[in-house]
Amino acid sequence: MKKTGVFYGSSTGTCEELANQIAKKLGVSSTDVHSVDKMTADKIKEYEVLVLGTSTWGDGELQDDWYDGVKVLKSTDLSMKLVALFGCGDSESYCDTFCDGIGVLYEDLKDSGCTFLGNKVSTDGYSFSSSIAVVDDAFVGLPLDEVNESDKTAERIDAWTAEIKSKL
Ligand SMILES: Cc1cc2nc3c(=O)[nH]c(=O)nc-3n(C[C@H](O)[C@H](O)[C@H](O)COP(=O)(O)O)c2cc1C
Repeated sequence: MKKTGVFYGSSTGTCEELANQIAKKLGVSSTDVHSVDKMTADKIKEYEVLVLGTSTWGDGELQDDWYDGVKVLKSTDLSMKLVALFGCGDSESYCDTFCDGIGVLYEDLKDSGCTFLGNKVSTDGYSFSSSIAVVDDAFVGLPLDEVNESDKTAERIDAWTAEIKSKL
């Protein structure tokens, strides 16, 4: 297993809880799960795999702590890194910007030279109108909706983490 770090941005604890569930499924120690406000270039260098999670706020925006996090990522050489994105949102109240934060992170990192994992998640089973996290008909990371579809979360995490593990 490659050394994996999970970084999350979470305002009310939902994405943090999901980050811990994902870490457990990937066999990542809790000491390698970090709030993104603790992200530094040195910390990124410790990991071969970065699992990055954000909730979506405002009208399709990144969770606040990610604004500095993205600057740190952009100042770091990511060309050898494997990167997997996940996020949480509310597909009912924010159906036009569902989990857009995943799409924002993807846009910010897609030219960094990193290799994405778990970046072709089928939209089947999700109810939403629009999301910039959908590229070429698939989500570029794992969207989770604890507000309306928490009953689907475990199954979605299981499938996504199994796919990532198969690539490591
Ligand atoms: C003011 C506000 C704006 C939101 N905007 C979006 C949005 O644009 N898209 C979306 O999918 N979810 C949106 N959400 C839902 C949150 O992303 C969701 O509640 C999430 O689980 C919060 O995670 P956190 O506690 O980890 O920050 C919004 C929620 C609030 C209260």
